[in-house]
Amino acid sequence: MALMTDDKPDDVALAVSNLHTTIGTGPGAVRGVDGVSFTVRRGEIFGIAGESGSGKSMTAFSILRLLPTRGRISEGSILFKGEELTTLSEAGMRKLRGDRIAMIFQDPMTSLNPVFTVGSQISEAILQHRRMSATQAQAEAIRLMEIVEIPDAASRYSAFPHQFSGGMRQRIMIAMALSCAPDLLIADEPTTALDVTVEKQIIGFLQKLRRETGVAIMLITHNLNLLAENSDRIAIMYAGQIVELAPTSEIFANPRHPYTQALLNSMPRGHISQQRLVPLAGVPPRIVGKRSGCSFAPRCPMAQELCTTVPELRDCGVGHSARCWFVEGSPRHDK
Ligand SMILES: Nc1ncnc2c1ncn2[C@@H]1O[C@H](COP(=O)(O)OP(=O)(O)OP(=O)(O)O)[C@@H](O)[C@H]1O
Ligand code: SF4
Ligand SMILES: [Mg+2]
Repeated sequence: MALMTDDKPDDVALAVSNLHTTIGTGPGAVRGVDGVSFTVRRGEIFGIAGESGSGKSMTAFSILRLLPTRGRISEGSILFKGEELTTLSEAGMRKLRGDRIAMIFQDPMTSLNPVFTVGSQISEAILQHRRMSATQAQAEAIRLMEIVEIPDAASRYSAFPHQFSGGMRQRIMIAMALSCAPDLLIADEPTTALDVTVEKQIIGFLQKLRRETGVAIMLITHNLNLLAENSDRIAIMYAGQIVELAPTSEIFANPRHPYTQALLNSMPRGHISQQRLVPLAGVPPRIVGKRSGCSFAPRCPMAQELCTTVPELRDCGVGHSARCWFVEGSPRHDK
């Protein structure tokens, strides 16, 4: 993939290029991810936003190669620190996951094993990645629990996941992510289940983590307010495609795609967190088979005859691109 003009190869942690992920086969296959390209740089928080079903999680699970049984990457490239992941062996992927690529999800209960203590699970993660004794791993686990501000960490080491609040469990997941010094952290709706105060703390930890370690973070959320304050660049997804990608300040100051404009217009100003993006009349389509025209057309106030032809992403400013026929600019040639 052609990198964005201001990307230096050494700065790029992840380069996804023309990624297609389908669910099912034959004419009924769903285009979950349909030609998605983006890069995430070292130390960057890259936000991905869009309504339910737009392909955010499917993009994340494609990178991790943790797709549902009927899902498969049918085309494209995923370069992680220069290594191609789409063709990497399963053993190679297992080694990367939780080691150089860490992940946190909306519900930490699905990632924590309810029958083991949280401390033993963090120790186990440490032992998988570092050479140390069980006693040293326990001390390190307690240290990590202290870093993420678990009160009374030494005694909570022996507590079980259900004895922690949702926010505390998410901190445990961040402690696990810290156990391996990852190059990339994928956070898929990490704070959706949490209240606003806890959300701020969790995002605060992510900010601290990227500042101190240079980890690249992919932050997936419905909540554009959260990205406004906590991301460097944002990709807006719609029906499996990126429809706009730009630096965060640019997206908010100068949104170019009618979908992004509609999202922003319907967003309450100020700090209303936990906001889910379902602001427009109608729902995004599920794309099965060939795409006919711009997928946003049925909901777009500006739709015209030309929109029955599929629009390409067009460059419309430095590091800014949008997928609409009526955005001034030139078609991108990196796909
Ligand atoms: N396990 C699955 N089996 C079949 N289709 C799926 C599966 N998971 C997702 N899909 C489909 O793939 C598309 C992309 O879904 P994805 O989960 O990536 O959306 P999302 O943007 O993460 O949504 P949400 O905000 O609700 O998490 C949707 O059309 C969805 O219906
Ligand atoms: S291509 Fe047409 S339908 Fe699609 S967003 Fe632009 S104006 Fe709207
Ligand atoms: Mg999702």
